[in-house]
Amino acid sequence: MEIDYSKRSFSYYPTNAIVYAKCIDGKWSKPEVTDDFNLSLHCFAGVFHYAPCCFEGLKAFRGVDGRVRLFRPDENVKRMQSSAAYLDMPAPSMELFLEMCISCVQANWDFIPPYESPSASLYLRPVLFGYNPQLGIHSAKDVMFVVMASGVGTYSGAKSLVPGTAVLSRNYDRAATYGSGGYKLGANYAQSLHAYNLAHKMGYRELLFLDSATHSHIEEFGSSNFFAIKHGCYVTPNSPSVLPSITNKSLRKVAEEFGLKVERRTIFVDELDTFEEVNSCGTAVVITPICRIDDKATLESGTITREYKYSEECGPISKKLYDRIIGIQKGLEEDTYGWCMFVNEPK
Ligand SMILES: Cc1ncc(COP(=O)(O)O)c(C=O)c1O
Repeated sequence: MEIDYSKRSFSYYPTNAIVYAKCIDGKWSKPEVTDDFNLSLHCFAGVFHYAPCCFEGLKAFRGVDGRVRLFRPDENVKRMQSSAAYLDMPAPSMELFLEMCISCVQANWDFIPPYESPSASLYLRPVLFGYNPQLGIHSAKDVMFVVMASGVGTYSGAKSLVPGTAVLSRNYDRAATYGSGGYKLGANYAQSLHAYNLAHKMGYRELLFLDSATHSHIEEFGSSNFFAIKHGCYVTPNSPSVLPSITNKSLRKVAEEFGLKVERRTIFVDELDTFEEVNSCGTAVVITPICRIDDKATLESGTITREYKYSEECGPISKKLYDRIIGIQKGLEEDTYGWCMFVNEPK
């Protein structure tokens, strides 16, 4: 059956198979590919109680040449390893992580969207979690690592580069100053769900978190990093409690290539008034322009105290950055940085 990827958003859509491996007593099992998506877990497994869980997100694209590419998967491995180290639990090696991602793409080959579907991709979700039964509060000794996939469209379901609105989160924090925000832990997302739901109920596309200590500077969106363009400069927050986004890292490189100055620094809320282009960026959202940011005393309040307005269309510099990144991912432009890893069709 032909899938119409233009009707898809960033959601779970069934695929053929998942790939999993376990690390028990420090020894990794051989990865297995299965069409059974239901895992059997002990109800005392740490993941159900103290949330020893981290995950990643990366995309496989079908290029203009028909070849399938993963975008910077080595960066996802490094980030998962640093998340697992923060949780003091075992992590897959670079080789195992890449091998399982490749197996997952190959097992779900028919669900890789065609090149002609703009903004569609096979999204991979590698998840690592505490597996052994435990009761006391300590890190997971044994872990399970699962790589699953979903053939997705744009994050919002709208066409790509359609701007959305955001609201500042004044009375809910995503991550503590000296906390886990710089790691991709499931617990960070649990922390943001309630506030996110409030923002969505009020019709906002995104929620923009501030630093938890002073609520005076910008951290990141619930789903993605923040970047802005001002006087030929690419500006993005520099904070240990912001997730180090692979997309943002790639965009900074491309921005330099385009002759933009790149600044990673503290961005005070007032500075929002001075930006020419504001965007969220990440694997799932790619680049999503923001056309308005509302400031309110609380998310629950109906009164907007200040409004920051931007263009109703994607800004020209952001569009150029978007085209370059997508161009590399889909094989339209030369991958000068060697960011893409090719995956061969299964035999
Ligand atoms: C909170 C948060 N920040 C930033 C990002 C962007 O990171 P990346 O570009 O590595 O996908 C994501 C998405 O993965 C995210 O969930």
